[in-house]
Amino acid sequence: MTWLITGGAGYIGGHVVRELVADGRRVVVLDDLSSGSPSRLPAGVPLVVGSTLDRAALDAVIAEHAVTGVVHIAAKKAVGESVEQPLRYYRENLTGLQNVLEAAVAGGLRHVLFSSSAAVYGMPDVDLITEETPCAPMNPYGESKLAGEWMVKATGHAHGLSTVSLRYFNVAGTAAPELADDGVSNLVPMVLQRLTTGQAPLVFGDDYATPDGSCVRDYIHVADIASAHLAAVRRLEAAEQPIALTLNIGRGEGVSVLEMIAAIARITGLTTPPQIAPRRAGDPAGVVASAELIHRELDWKAAHDLDAMIGSAWAAWPHRP
Ligand code: WQD
Repeated sequence: MTWLITGGAGYIGGHVVRELVADGRRVVVLDDLSSGSPSRLPAGVPLVVGSTLDRAALDAVIAEHAVTGVVHIAAKKAVGESVEQPLRYYRENLTGLQNVLEAAVAGGLRHVLFSSSAAVYGMPDVDLITEETPCAPMNPYGESKLAGEWMVKATGHAHGLSTVSLRYFNVAGTAAPELADDGVSNLVPMVLQRLTTGQAPLVFGDDYATPDGSCVRDYIHVADIASAHLAAVRRLEAAEQPIALTLNIGRGEGVSVLEMIAAIARITGLTTPPQIAPRRAGDPAGVVASAELIHRELDWKAAHDLDAMIGSAWAAWPHRP
């Protein structure tokens, strides 16, 4: 049994690959290296440099490595960029996924694990988001993930594949310095970058209907994202009849931007007070997961707290002041 991990040379993909290999799985990675790096892969893991837009490459890697399951992580994920370049996002995230699904069916695969996102919910008006909360994505990125879930579920139903879609909430931290997120497009790296260059962290709005006025999110350690993928892989491998699951990955605990900045100051000792900046378009006030269903279905719970996320990101941060 070999698992194909698309996007396996990336920040999240690299953690998932390491987790599956450590648990004894045979893995092959397809990655176009547009944001990933071969240095993230453990020794001995084959890397095919290519895009999910290349159907022939997918067919070849599935045949040459006797692939039986796919973890599809390769995608574009910058919300703002998706608003500026919707067609690029639909192509990369949906045409790419369609190729993966067609190759999976043609290659006789039995398992599909799809990387989805809390972005499918849009601006939910609930304190805790369950998998039954209505999905109303607010940008092409979130739309591409919701439509992707529909494609995965319909393909699994029509062709007898077992599928799991995992909705990531806000991912942070790293399991090892060499696997850290080298993009600076999310709160923790953006705050670290400003603090280590002598600038005040920015708070995009403090007039939301939240306890301290700043946005609330459910932060989850990337090592927990990886362990949730392993739990899903085990569930897929054990399925005697086709299954179809859609699960949140979060901690069920909301943390505000101001609370995150205070925690980063406490851990790093960089205490420049934050500046309040204008709201960022499209930001929901609160996005916090109910993690009940994943616990029930996969017997999985997050194991890392906020200090572990921030501490590991700080330990891996290359630019000390
Ligand atoms: C978090 C909060 C900002 C930077 C992310 C991913 C998305 C999806 C869901 C995977 C927001 C505020 C940020 C800063 C700030 N994940 N902020 N100052 O927007 O919740 O979405 O998780 O699929 O792909 O982008 O995450 O880290 O951008 O922002 O005040 O310097 O922090 O306004 O409220 P977001 P984020």
